[in-house]
This record gives sequence, structure tokens and C-alpha cells, in this order.
Amino acid sequence: MSAQTPQRIPQDFIDTLLDRTDIVDVIDSRVKLKRSGRNYTACCPFHKEKTPSFSVAPDKQFYYCFGCGAGGNAIGFLMELEHLSFPEAVEELARKAGMDVPKQDQNLSPAAIAAQQAKTQARNQAYDLLEQANAYYQKQLRQHPQRKQAVSYLQGRGLSGQIAQRFGIGFAPTGWQNLLDNLGSTESAKNALIDIGMAVKKPDNDRVYDFFRERIMFPIRNSKGKVIAFGGRVLGDGKPKYLNSPESAIFHKEKELYGLYEARQHNRDLKRLLVVEGYMDVVALAQHQIHFAVATLGTATSQFHLERIFKMVSEVIFCFDGDAAGIKAAVRAMHTCVPFMTDGRQARFLLLPQGEDPDTMVRKHGSETLTELIANATPFSEFLFQHFSHDLDSHNLEHRAKLATDMMPVIQAMPKGLMRSMMLSKLEDHTGLNQDTLAQLTAVSDKPDIDNKESSAQPKPDQSTLANSKDAEEPVAAGNSETDLPPDYVLNDQTWATEYHPEHNQHSPTNSHQPSHDHGFDHRHGSRVQNPAQAAIRLILRHPGLAEAYTEIPEHLRYLRMHDASILVQLLEICQQVQSQLQRVPQAVELQSECADLEAWPMMRNLASLESLTVTTDHSSQLQEAIDKLHHHYFDQRFDDLSQTLRNATSDEHINTAKQQLKILLGEKETLQKQQKSR
Ligand code: UTP
Ligand code: MN
Repeated sequence: MSAQTPQRIPQDFIDTLLDRTDIVDVIDSRVKLKRSGRNYTACCPFHKEKTPSFSVAPDKQFYYCFGCGAGGNAIGFLMELEHLSFPEAVEELARKAGMDVPKQDQNLSPAAIAAQQAKTQARNQAYDLLEQANAYYQKQLRQHPQRKQAVSYLQGRGLSGQIAQRFGIGFAPTGWQNLLDNLGSTESAKNALIDIGMAVKKPDNDRVYDFFRERIMFPIRNSKGKVIAFGGRVLGDGKPKYLNSPESAIFHKEKELYGLYEARQHNRDLKRLLVVEGYMDVVALAQHQIHFAVATLGTATSQFHLERIFKMVSEVIFCFDGDAAGIKAAVRAMHTCVPFMTDGRQARFLLLPQGEDPDTMVRKHGSETLTELIANATPFSEFLFQHFSHDLDSHNLEHRAKLATDMMPVIQAMPKGLMRSMMLSKLEDHTGLNQDTLAQLTAVSDKPDIDNKESSAQPKPDQSTLANSKDAEEPVAAGNSETDLPPDYVLNDQTWATEYHPEHNQHSPTNSHQPSHDHGFDHRHGSRVQNPAQAAIRLILRHPGLAEAYTEIPEHLRYLRMHDASILVQLLEICQQVQSQLQRVPQAVELQSECADLEAWPMMRNLASLESLTVTTDHSSQLQEAIDKLHHHYFDQRFDDLSQTLRNATSDEHINTAKQQLKILLGEKETLQKQQKSR
């Protein structure tokens, strides 16, 4: 491949590209591979054969056919198989890795070519120096005069020499120039040590010193076993507890997993990986025969980590401390897992008791206990439900709607398959909403203001969202600031009957609701009071068919000086309009979306979302009762007005007229009471 003008693409780029490419993926997506011990095999795509002699070595990132002798790296494979040129193959791999191939002048200056070669050289030198540093630190653990201190520290943490050796654990002794004296004899090596973070140059006086001093050294190895960085732990209580190599051309924290190489050395055919937080956790677990732990390097579990993990195994268990930080890490990991959860894969979560980490757990309780805990770790689906339904009341419709709106986008982001269907059906069970309805919820939650609790925007209810509720009562769109009311704030009709007193607002009925409480709840009563108008609004919003009985809008509703009554009138009018447009009774969502532009909509939506605590399902008589009660309010209003007229009357004529009207009023009231009794 070097004949194909490789200098057009910087070697440095090609190195990075190959670092980020797994040949197993490249080949497996074109020729189905089967795992065979440490390698993968297939029937060779380059010659005809019946038994596989084509082999791919993940640790060498190389393929080879024992039948026809074809062999090479990922780029070579693509060139051969798909008859691509070198740049085309690079282009293809770069696309997959999400990298842009740098455009380069065809006629590179000798200086530019030299610079590229220098980069490649630097890279090789870096690997080389890190390997030497590793050897140096290990040697110090065996030979340094101070070694006792380090060895007894490791022993104190329960580690054997054998395990320390398996992980290449070493010791950086006290002193500022140890590593530099040993490896930095040339200017080039010294600069290289600085580039990879093994040495530091003080900016003010240009003095160079060792980065790691007086620390236990954990080499971080890549999948091919090459040391790419270190973690160093203080022997005592110094700060920082762990020092990690900085990011470099060959070390990308968010992609590497500490202990992965060692785990695969122990068992090439890993079935699962345990993700823990610390170096010491990985090593302590291995000490106790749990050889499948890996640690993220002081970062959250990334998508890159999961890509690597699921390439190798089908099960990952996250094992974190049970404190707030551990829970947070687990929830983050859960979210990162979502797009990876294809059928056959499993992610599980194990939160340890407060104050414990896998290291202390395994040392205190032994590997059997921990193995059992791992075996019983919470599966992804359960963890997801636990997370989202935490603090929610499953008997509260609004809470169930919140669960649905929160969870649907997550489930939708899962790859299609049985697992996803299972989650959907579980959500269906939990929320009482059917799958079609749930599916529509993602559309709703795509709206930017949905999750913004501060938002004052009032999204229209999504018709399709709620159209298919299998609940006895149709719910209202949730997931919005107005719905964040405490549960159990609805009382039944009896309650407003006793709590609503017209005299509270008879002289200023339109002010009966504080302007700041635009949702129409009376906070003096802890948001528990519904007046009859609100009760009627709620019933109609949920059961629009009820409005049919009131095509002639009762007059008393129009004359009541009560804000909610005027909204009720508005609502009844809208019902008529929508019904005549549709030529049928509108569905709750159809009606609700018609109302979404009204000023009173936030209050209406709240009402519609409230669950009734009454057992009765006779909604039409509930509505009738509410409207009748409003009629009594109307009488009360007229009575008050007439009383006032009487008090202020200046002439007999006025007094007589008022008395006359009072008589009529009393007559009307009697008639109404008789009517109500006969119903
Ligand atoms: P912890 O603080 O939980 O330490 O950090 P630990 O792993 O239990 O360490 P021991 O048992 O006291 O030795 C967890 C991980 O976070 C990163 C390291 O990767 C560590 O293993 N970390 C922590 C740092 O990078 N720097 C720090 O100063 C502390
Ligand atoms: Mn620890």
C-alpha cells in the first residue's frame, strides 16, 4: 500500500485513524466473523474455500489467510475486498470513525513531508518511552531503597505480588528527576517525555521535572497491550489522590478502559464486563478472582466505552458506590446505554451500600458475596423504570402521564427489538396509555419548551397524544409547568359544596380569583378547592359529549359575575362550534386543542388533568349538579344585588320594584329546588 502515494494523507492521520478503527468491525460488517479463542475466523473472502482459514487478530489489528496468504491491516483489507485505492479506503474508514481526512497539497514540500515523518516518529517514540517508563517503575518496586514503603502499601491493600505484576504496577520514587535521568538523556527524549505528560516543564524557569513522584504507578494499556498512559496514586493522604497522564496523541481518556487488556489476557472469551470507578477496584477484584472488571479513567462512561464493551461482550454491569455521586454516575451510564440496548445485550446496575466501593466490598465480604450481588444487579429495564417512576404516585393520572412523557423519548431511542417492545408494554401497564398514544408522546416531548419547567409557553395539547387513552376518563397533556402541582389536590363535589361560599366573593365576584393565580386554584385552601364552574369545565373537557345537553346555554351562567362561569360559557360555545364543524361529538383532545389558545387554557388544562376522587361515573348528573349549583349562585347574586338596591333605595318606587323582584326571585328559586328534587 505504500506504493499508492501514501504521503498524500498525513501518516499521523492514518495512525490516528487506525487507532480508532477496530479491524474486527471493519471485516465483520463485510464478512461474518466467528470468534475462535483470541481471534476471529471466517471463510476467506479472497479465495474459494469451504473451511475457514481466514483469521483476524484483534490485538494485532491484522488479518491473515492461511489458505491464500492474503493479509494486512484494516486499510489493506478494504482495498483488497472492495478494490479501493488507498485514499478511498482511508476515506471510507474515516467516515466510519467520524473523522475528516485532511486535504493536502499534492506537491508536499519536503519540509511538510519531514514534519509528517517527525510526527510518526514522535508517536513511535512515545510508545517506546512509555514502555520504558513502565519497566522503570516496576523495577523501582523491586529494587528501590524506598521500595518497602510502596510494597507495604500494596500489601496493606490486600494485593499480592503476582497481581501487582499482572497489572504492571510500579513505583515512582521520591525525587524530581528520576525518570528524566533514566529516560531523558537526549533532548529529543526529554521533549517527548514532556509531550506525553511524563515530565513537566516549568514555564517560568524552563526547568523540567518528573510528573509522577512518590506514587504507586498503574500503567494504562490499550487493547494491543501497549502502555499509553499512567495513573499514579499517592502513598498516603496527599492530594491529588490520583494523578493521571494528560490527554495526548495516543491517550484519549474517554475511550480507554483501565483493566480491559488485563481482563482479556485472563480470558479471551469474556462474556461480560463490570464497569467500576477506580484503578484499585479493578485490581482488588482481580485479586479476588473477579477478572472482568474495567474502570473508566476518572470520566463518565462514554459512548466510546460502550462501543468497545459491546463489541466484546453482550453484558455490562455498572458497579458504583451507593452515594449520590454513584447514583448519578449510574443514571448517566444508563442514558448512555440506551442506543446500545439491542436484543441480546444487557446492561445492569449495582449500587453498593453507602461508603463502599468494589475494593472495600470484596475485601470485607469476599468474592462470593460480590459475585452474588453482581448476578443480582438490577437489569436495565428495571433500573430505567425505577429511575423514572421514583417519586411518582402510580395512582395519580398526572404522574402517570409524566412517567410516559419522560420515558417515551428514552424508549424510542432504543434500537427496535423485543427489549424495546417489552419496555413499551411495561410503560403501557404503568401508565394506562396504549402504545399508539405513547408513541405520539415523543412528538410532544420534541417540543423544546416541554422540559423547561420555567417556560411560560403553553403548548397546545397534542391531539394524537391522548386520543387513545384506555382510561375511564381521558387525561390531558402533561409535562408542562402548570401540571407540576402536588398530587391529591382534587376534592370531590361534596368538598366544593361545603367550601365554596358565595359570600366570599359576592361583592366582587370577578375578583374571586387572584390575578396571580391564573390557573384558578384558590391557594388559601391548598389548591384543593374546585368551584362548581371549575367542576363543570373539568367534566366537559374530559367528556365533551356532556355539552350536548346544554346547546341552549343556561342563562344564569351568562349573568353570573364569576370568572369561571364565563369560561364555562365559552367552553360550551366552543363545544357547539367544534361539534358543528365535525358533525359529531368531539373527542376530548379535539376539544382541548381548540381551547389551547384561550387565555384561560392553563387553568383549563390543569382542571382537565385532575383526577376525580369520586367513585361515581355518572358524569352527566355531576355536570347537571354543578350547573344547578351555579344557578343557586346566580340566585344568591341577584339576592345580594336586590338587598343592596333596597339598602340604597331613595324612593318608595325603587323599594317596591326591588321587593317585587325579590318575590319573583324566591319563586324561581323554589321552582328550581322542586325541579332538582324531582330529578
Ligand atoms: P475515588 O476517589 O473513588 O478513589 O476515585 P478510589 O478509586 O476509591 O481510590 P482508593 O481506593 O482510595 O485508592 C475513583 C477514581 O476516580 C479517579 C481515579 O480514576 C480513581 O480511581 N480519580 C480520583 C482521579 O483521577 N483523581 C483523583 O484525585 C481521585
Ligand atoms: Mn477505593
